[in-house]
Amino acid sequence: MNKDFIKTAVIGHPIAHSKSPLIHSHWLREHGLKGSYEAIDIEADALAESVRALVDRGYSGFNVTLPHKIAIMALCNEVDERAKAIGAVNTVSIRDGKLYGTNTDAFGFAQNVLCAGLDGWSFEDGAAVVLGAGGAARAVIYALLEEGAPSVILINRTREKAEELTQMDKKIMVEDWAKRDDALKGANLIVNTTSLGMEGKPPLEIDLSLAPSHALVTDIVYAPLYTDLLQQAKKRGLRVVTGAGMLLHQARAGFALWNGVMPEVTPELEERLLEA
Ligand SMILES: NC(=O)c1ccc[n+]([C@@H]2O[C@H](COP(=O)([O-])OP(=O)(O)OC[C@H]3O[C@@H](n4cnc5c(N)ncnc54)[C@H](OP(=O)(O)O)[C@@H]3O)[C@@H](O)[C@H]2O)c1
Repeated sequence: MNKDFIKTAVIGHPIAHSKSPLIHSHWLREHGLKGSYEAIDIEADALAESVRALVDRGYSGFNVTLPHKIAIMALCNEVDERAKAIGAVNTVSIRDGKLYGTNTDAFGFAQNVLCAGLDGWSFEDGAAVVLGAGGAARAVIYALLEEGAPSVILINRTREKAEELTQMDKKIMVEDWAKRDDALKGANLIVNTTSLGMEGKPPLEIDLSLAPSHALVTDIVYAPLYTDLLQQAKKRGLRVVTGAGMLLHQARAGFALWNGVMPEVTPELEERLLEA
């Protein structure tokens, strides 16, 4: 096996839309590394045999996207604590034929906010209001608690799904979807993790007028980059962080695991991602 040439990939179905090959190829070139990163389409019922084939063909690792993020856990020899807590694996390293699963979405979310250079604002300053309780919300909540948010107010259309996530930590409190405007009163951070606001989806209907002036507003939806939520926040003079950086920063962690170099997110890379 030639370890001078590092073979990596993203697996999912469908996968043609994935921006990950663009990101990883950019960093491979930037760091003068010999390697490849492909998008590989794998259907749900072919997961086990296809992953075994990647091991046999000498891959160093791969990213995992829908619909395999949960199913891959059973195929890993080890799954780390953060992936277990988030309930999904999005990054696998292969060493000596064994699969090691982790999740880099929480890192991606936290780094995207931390790298925005927000003077006088910290995760620790107050409650975080999280809208949405799907797969991405779990990673966002993990990051919020890891970064020291004193409490998380979780609001989801389907309240039961939000209630399930309270098992992650006692600091998570659930509020009704209908009361989302009022819940913003004490917010230090407001995060949209629903799919509302995405191109082709309705906007997230929320009134930010009760949000404190120091509150930071972020959206993990990044197409469009400035969602209705972020546009409303900007009009009100609130600080905003866009969602594209979460995707870029989560990719950094996988790249570092496989290639031994922690790459940077540059404005040039972000521009290329948004143009693609
Ligand atoms: N920037 C990044 O790197 C990144 C990473 C991951 C995901 N994302 C984006 O984050 C979004 C969510 O992803 P996910 O994987 O968490 O999806 P998911 O598991 O399908 O969850 C979707 C969430 O959106 C809510 N929702 C959907 N339609 C709604 C509506 N009409 N009204 C109110 N709530 C609605 C759902 O509420 P119910 O529970 O009531 O259905 C649920 O909370 C997607 O747009 C995805 O592209 C971005």
